[in-house]
Amino acid sequence: MTSAFQFRLLMLASFCWLGIQAGVITVNSDIPNNLEQQEGRIVGGQQTDIANHPYQVSIGLDSAVLIHICGGSIYAPRVVITAAHCLKGRYAYTLRVVTGLTTLADSAEQGVAVQKLIYHSGYVKKTHANDVGLVILKEALTYSANVQPIVLARTATVVGAHAVATGWGKSDENAQKMSEVLQAVELQIVDSLECCVQYATKQYVITEEMLCAAAEEGGKDTCQGDSGGPLVVDGTLVGIVSWGIGCAQHYPGVYASVPYHFEWIEQQAAVYM
Ligand code: ARG
Repeated sequence: MTSAFQFRLLMLASFCWLGIQAGVITVNSDIPNNLEQQEGRIVGGQQTDIANHPYQVSIGLDSAVLIHICGGSIYAPRVVITAAHCLKGRYAYTLRVVTGLTTLADSAEQGVAVQKLIYHSGYVKKTHANDVGLVILKEALTYSANVQPIVLARTATVVGAHAVATGWGKSDENAQKMSEVLQAVELQIVDSLECCVQYATKQYVITEEMLCAAAEEGGKDTCQGDSGGPLVVDGTLVGIVSWGIGCAQHYPGVYASVPYHFEWIEQQAAVYM
């Protein structure tokens, strides 16, 4: 006997599956605002050193001191990959990119100036669709042990793969401040259908251009302030920190899929390589 609940789950699963296959899922436009994603610092992570993640950068708002707003990953000497939501509505001259640092407060460091912000034309704030963007630097970075580019993943990541996310975001969703020292957290890639079904109960849609990651044991996630930063599997960039409901609550973190956006990234970056 199928209960109404099972039936509903089945409907959700079919909806998710069809949407993912077709890549054309569009979303209910009445997303309740109280469910808006939390911005975030890594939850349940450990302190790490930039030398272990030399592709990680901080995107800072240029004021009296630099204010960290998002993470990013070095792709080429003048190209940093981040989330569209970190860039939309901002101007290049207000941002700076800090590389090679483990502790952000150390930064008498003023980072490098930004020439241009590029974000995906299909980015939609409400649905978090196509949350990918590039920060083009005015000058080329000089690579060193602590400043290195990361290779992009070209093929879809397997479910259960071990991934690591890094950032200076909040260590829980209610924290007042960002983390001063770079944090790393180990996560696993979550089945997109499962993730889609979970989020469908909250009227959010997981599309094929997103991927989900979480820890089986719970208590680990990216959070506000980690956005735009890297999710890495086997030394390749597979995801860009994008959104989630809460941090390390009952929902996986959602990342823009790098394999999906590979061509967009390559095309946009080509001019600056
Ligand atoms: N939107 C957030 C930011 O701007 C990232 C949130 C990630 N949330 C999560 N539960 N993984 O920093």
